[in-house]
Amino acid sequence: MGSNEDIEAAVSRREFISQAGRVAVVVAGTGVVVGGVRVAIPNAAPGASRHVLLGNVGDFRVGTVTWLRDLELFVLRSSEGIGVFSSRCTHLGCTVRRTDAGFQCPCHGASFDPQGRVVTGPARSPLPWYRVSVAPDGSLWADREDVVSTGSLAEEAEVQL
Ligand code: FES
Repeated sequence: MGSNEDIEAAVSRREFISQAGRVAVVVAGTGVVVGGVRVAIPNAAPGASRHVLLGNVGDFRVGTVTWLRDLELFVLRSSEGIGVFSSRCTHLGCTVRRTDAGFQCPCHGASFDPQGRVVTGPARSPLPWYRVSVAPDGSLWADREDVVSTGSLAEEAEVQL
């Protein structure tokens, strides 16, 4: 038969093990919640803000298509106006490359015409074009959340060229 001290020590050990078990459950649960939140919040890509500065209008000569690598955008300037469209393939997001016929995706072979319309799959959607605007100081901006129709060029009056 055990003494009172033995019994108290046994109860103490039981309480300790019980408490440790509760702590482990709480820690594990917190990890699951934190893990769930981590998964639920997408990584914000740097430079992924809605309004992006493309440069000064004067930086883009008439008759050119300029690739802005960091922004993953093409700026097309013609005598009719200026337009901006994505350089990310609409299939799985690879960066398309310019060709004599338009654009080609190096990943799975999709091709696009010079305005970004699909010529061959697997991409099914054209390269998205975005609304452009010019600030009074001549800076050219694109709104990446305002998709306009393919080939839309902001006319001179709109962009104050
Ligand atoms: S990512 Fe461009 S064709 Fe697949």
